[in-house]
Amino acid sequence: MIVIEKIADLQAYIKEKAAKSVGFVPTMGALHDGHISLITRCVAENDLCVASVFVNPTQFNDKADLERYPRTPEADCAMLQAAGCDVVFMPTVQEMYPEEDTRQFNFGSLETVMEGKYRPGHFNGVAQIVSKLFDAVQPHKAYFGEKDFQQVAIIRAMVEQLNYPIQIIACPIIREESGLARSSRNTLLTDEQRKKAALIAQVLTKSTTFVHSKSVSATIDWVEEQFKDDAEFRMDYYEIVDGNSLQPVQNWEDSEFIVGCIAVYCGKIRLIDNIHYKG
Ligand code: PAF
Repeated sequence: MIVIEKIADLQAYIKEKAAKSVGFVPTMGALHDGHISLITRCVAENDLCVASVFVNPTQFNDKADLERYPRTPEADCAMLQAAGCDVVFMPTVQEMYPEEDTRQFNFGSLETVMEGKYRPGHFNGVAQIVSKLFDAVQPHKAYFGEKDFQQVAIIRAMVEQLNYPIQIIACPIIREESGLARSSRNTLLTDEQRKKAALIAQVLTKSTTFVHSKSVSATIDWVEEQFKDDAEFRMDYYEIVDGNSLQPVQNWEDSEFIVGCIAVYCGKIRLIDNIHYKG
């Protein structure tokens, strides 16, 4: 495995390899089994597997969140190498943003709900960096985790808007033994909080049994209720949406693809998760 810091070197290396199929896994590092599942799939489906490790400042609307974001470059490289990754692109901020990126994307109603509502500018920053990384790597396929359900929808929309000939592959959420969705942020939880945070997946899983017994609004009320008794939890949102448009549904019959998306603070750490009700 080779580690590359400059876009020009990366492009020269990929060109020289002349791989029939280049697969790409963009990450912000602090890798865990969720990322490794993307790498494993990328390695299996492509001749060349490229991963990037870059904590992208433009997608953080909260400076404190950017500062405390975990950074573990050496451990990341060891995990990537063990998983069979061929190339790791680890640029500096200066390399990715030699000048300010002033592009403003418009994702319409996809970006005004959920994460877009609570983290203004977040998806614009994601689109900025992912498009820059796509330009640098020019992959045939790119792999993203479904934990960031809305991000996948935004990236698909960006690929369509910018006409990238790239197949976007969404991979299933990987969970800890307790059910907690794997996230780089989990390492910022205390042991006690990490145990408590398993409630998120437990509540979501239980709520899927209500599709035939409770209305959508009663299911939302029930989910919200489960986090009220413990002061450690503070919910940003829980929404039951159409999986394509990301707009809230009123009834279970409204769509064949229905997903519940949650963002909840456990202490100072914001966690997201989602579950499929239909589709
Ligand atoms: O999902 C992430 O880790 C990031 O949002 C991404 C896609 C690597 C862009 O910085």
